[in-house]
Amino acid sequence: MKKIIVNNYEEASSVAAALFAEQIWQKPDTVLGLATGGTPVGLYNRLAAMNKAGALDFSRVVSYNLDEYYPILKSNDQSYDYFMRDNLFNHINIKPENIHLPNGEAKDPAAECAAYDAAIAAAGGIDLQLLGIGVNGHLGFNEPEAALHAGTHLTDLTPSTLQANARFFGDDPSKVPTQALTMGIGTIMSARKIVMIATGAVKAPIIKDLFSGRISTNNPGSFLLLHPDATVIVDRAAMGE
Ligand code: PGA
Repeated sequence: MKKIIVNNYEEASSVAAALFAEQIWQKPDTVLGLATGGTPVGLYNRLAAMNKAGALDFSRVVSYNLDEYYPILKSNDQSYDYFMRDNLFNHINIKPENIHLPNGEAKDPAAECAAYDAAIAAAGGIDLQLLGIGVNGHLGFNEPEAALHAGTHLTDLTPSTLQANARFFGDDPSKVPTQALTMGIGTIMSARKIVMIATGAVKAPIIKDLFSGRISTNNPGSFLLLHPDATVIVDRAAMGE
């Protein structure tokens, strides 16, 4: 696992944007794995600015997002579908038919999850997967548990995640959906390259655990230690400085 230590969130976003731009320049039909949350917003702003400036073309890029609340309407402004349109897709020239998220409106979540993994495989797999990490170590919504799922699946969210995400739901954890569809740890680990961004003092304990080199399902992020091409961009606050 390669570590890049930067001063702050803005630098983390710029370093990540350079890695994503390089990937798309090298392979214009790149299959991206994308993430939601506070972490990727700075990266998405930079990618949108590069697209607007004519420096980065998304016309052949394909994307698969990590996760989505379940159930949730795409029109709900707290859905990840909405988040992605608002923060990235409405601002770049990606083709609508190339955008994929787990469908929070699906009637049959198990069928939706199986179809999602099949679609990723049929697209040739993910070239570059973006990740944040939860304060509890989750990747996507692979929460700390005794055992992790390999494939995309329906999962319960932990109290820690409901608490962490309450800030998007009027600070009320009871308003956060209690389940989600998420890529599994195997789906994530199958990506050819992974870039994780972790910033802010709130992430310092979990980053310390990750950098201890121990692999545990109690810190799903620690599986990145096994990946052949994972880069973790961490700012000084998340380093505990
Ligand atoms: P954040 O979430 O980017 O809002 O910190 C990260 C995560 O929960 O994976």
